[in-house]
Amino acid sequence: MNGKVYGALIILALIAITAPITAAHPEFAEKTAQGCLACHTEEQGGDLTDTGVAYAASGHAWPPVGGMKPMYPLPGHTRAALGFVHFIAAFMWFGTILYVHIVLRPAYAAKGLPRMEMMIGLVCMALAGITGAALTVSKIGGVAALAGTPWGHALSAKIALYGVMVASALFVVTVVRPRLRAGARPAAVTPRDKVFGPMQLAAFDGRESRPAYIAFQGNVYDVTAFTLWYGGRHVKQHQAGEDLTAALARAPHGAEKLAGAPVAGAYDPNLAPPLTTAQKLFYVIAYMNLGLVFATLAVVAWWRWGV
Ligand code: HEC
Repeated sequence: MNGKVYGALIILALIAITAPITAAHPEFAEKTAQGCLACHTEEQGGDLTDTGVAYAASGHAWPPVGGMKPMYPLPGHTRAALGFVHFIAAFMWFGTILYVHIVLRPAYAAKGLPRMEMMIGLVCMALAGITGAALTVSKIGGVAALAGTPWGHALSAKIALYGVMVASALFVVTVVRPRLRAGARPAAVTPRDKVFGPMQLAAFDGRESRPAYIAFQGNVYDVTAFTLWYGGRHVKQHQAGEDLTAALARAPHGAEKLAGAPVAGAYDPNLAPPLTTAQKLFYVIAYMNLGLVFATLAVVAWWRWGV
């Protein structure tokens, strides 16, 4: 899936999701077994009566808590604008998570989350949180509205999931990400089974007093003691930490020069380096986040259309 398809999907889904913002809510009449005029000034809807305001402010409780009003009322168009930003932010945030996990797979970020994705995520998270808080306090009459009704419970669950996702994102950014970057280059440690992959071998580059190892025809040789390999460089052309099988075929000498070098292990060009602790942690949190996205969307669906 390329960028354009992804962009088109985002726009389509935005339209689909924002459409219900302006839709009517005659289902409230059904749920409360009241006529429209219990909550509205007109039969088709229109302005809310005091009862209608109290119904919304008390978290869709029927009968509503008498006289309850929004904590910080905002005009309808301001709420619509906040709702629009809330949806875009949530959509970009969740869209990035879904795209990264399902299309790209977390492995692509295992060497450190790319800056752009991280910035999009953090900005969207902040925007969704700020607008969400404003939408909540401009609707409910108090914390009691979150506890007393299924509508309030669903909203509380949504807020709790948001909190977990923000906490895990901040943990990844401040603790895991720096370690992923640092751990992208493995230390010069011989693997337990003595089989080196390209990444493990690269660490033995002979620089900064690290040992100098080279691979030749499936074996890894320790050339640290060779004067001609001082500092990991050989005749200004070859670098330790690499597979030199092809290079030796072109050299003025043959493999007999390696006869005196201790064999440090075997070489497998296809061997992937083992996961670091930071990488394992990153995978666990990445897939936990994917689960949280689905959980949050399920709660949102229940909250908007189910309770
Ligand atoms: C129990 C109270 C209640 C009843 C009964 C009720 N409504 Fe509503 N209605 C609301 C509230 C509250 C809103 C504002 C949306 C919200 O807060 O979720 C609303 C919103 C609306 C809207 C959207 C207008 C807007 O500005 O968002 C329309 C249209 C509407 N109602 C029509 C009706 C009709 C038609 C009936 C009768 C079949 C009805 N309502 C019965 C409480 C009620």
